[in-house]
Amino acid sequence: MNDIVRIRGQKRLNGTISINGSKNSVVALIPASLLAKDVVTFTNVPHIEDVNSLLTTLSYLNVKTKFDGQTLTIDSSKISNKPLIGEEIKKVRASYYFMGALLALFNEVVIREPGGCSIGERPIDLHISGFEKMNVEVNYQDHIYTCKTPHLIGQTVVLKKVSVGATINLMIAMALADGVSIIENAAREPEIIDVANLINHMGGCVKGAGTSTIIVVGASKLRGCSYRVIPDRIETGTYAIIGAALGDEVFIENCNTNHCLALIYILKKIGVNLTVYDDVLIIKKSTNLTSINVETNPYPEFPTDLQQPLTTLLTQANGISIIKENIYAKRTAHVIELNKMGANIEVYDNNIIIKGPTLLKGCQVSGKDLRGGASLVLAALLAEGESYLHGFRHIKRGYDNIVNKLNKLGADISFIKKGDNDVAENNNG
Ligand code: UD1
Repeated sequence: MNDIVRIRGQKRLNGTISINGSKNSVVALIPASLLAKDVVTFTNVPHIEDVNSLLTTLSYLNVKTKFDGQTLTIDSSKISNKPLIGEEIKKVRASYYFMGALLALFNEVVIREPGGCSIGERPIDLHISGFEKMNVEVNYQDHIYTCKTPHLIGQTVVLKKVSVGATINLMIAMALADGVSIIENAAREPEIIDVANLINHMGGCVKGAGTSTIIVVGASKLRGCSYRVIPDRIETGTYAIIGAALGDEVFIENCNTNHCLALIYILKKIGVNLTVYDDVLIIKKSTNLTSINVETNPYPEFPTDLQQPLTTLLTQANGISIIKENIYAKRTAHVIELNKMGANIEVYDNNIIIKGPTLLKGCQVSGKDLRGGASLVLAALLAEGESYLHGFRHIKRGYDNIVNKLNKLGADISFIKKGDNDVAENNNG
């Protein structure tokens, strides 16, 4: 696998970029589609490693899939329940959605603890206590959850903390539970509305998604349908941030700007030259960016998934910026790498303090997680000279075709072929 890219920095960017379907939606929509035990066809599906990993799990469960262009057809009419304890489960955080789906279909699931990015502690206690409230007995041993129920009972679950994963997982289980369920203090992300819409398209009944109270009326059976995945708001935000740093005129198309309002507000406030339409963002050359104080919080506030790319952009702003990371306090692995490149960033508790502007210099850096990797792509694009970015596999988990998309805008990014590795290993400059 090509895991290293070389980036020659300081190229201005121009042109159009098209946004793909949402990663965080599709990784929930795929397990949710199993509830139909029928054929579900998704359009606008991104080609990312997380989707490939989920398709491997589907094949293991005897579910047929066909992924053609951006259309994914899932036929789960012959699905069988098997323990999900293989390596694929560890690769994707969202594997936990198989808990809700398989409990709803078979009243039983055996599943390994989910993996995903290493960005600090990521418990799933809220998912588990919600299932327990719905009449599920859960045992945990050697990183494996065994969950069993005589039948799922609709219940009111009050989440102690706002959680995207717990909200979606419970909603999936509740779709086929006996009676009416309510989720209080639900997360309100657009991806939650997307999963609720899918369940409703399959003949289910979910009301209130997008608010903090979701009501689910359990159905006895659901059916297949066709469904279009919403645009990826984090991919949109990443390219908007890259455009703000280096764009002369960058058009971001096929997005939903209504899902990106917190970022748009921040970019405007620091002086980015931005024009906003419903499904297009236009970023023109932006100079003299100013510092800002920002906090990450659940939607509709500024998302933690854009904290890392924004950190890199703020190395170019005049003055001291502070980003307070309220969701994942330890999501700061990118800071060490950015400082290697010449940034002036300090971390105190969950505060990331960025002194700018600084000239970044190309060197060897290593992406440790998906969005941290994206922040280093931007740093290398900004840097003087050449950078070698290791850990590209993390970026492929969530960004469809990022190298080609950026090169089309005028960036200079290439995969390091075998034999060039020596250059990459030895170039510490
Ligand atoms: C989802 C997104 C991820 C994003 C995150 C926050 C997917 C596949 N991933 O992750 O990209 O960064 O939302 O927007 O959609 N928590 C608990 N107990 C739980 C569950 C969560 O304490 O049972 C905590 C977490 O540690 C975190 C906070 O709640 O501090 C929010 O987590 P959550 O919204 O659940 O994140 P994920 O769904 O895992």
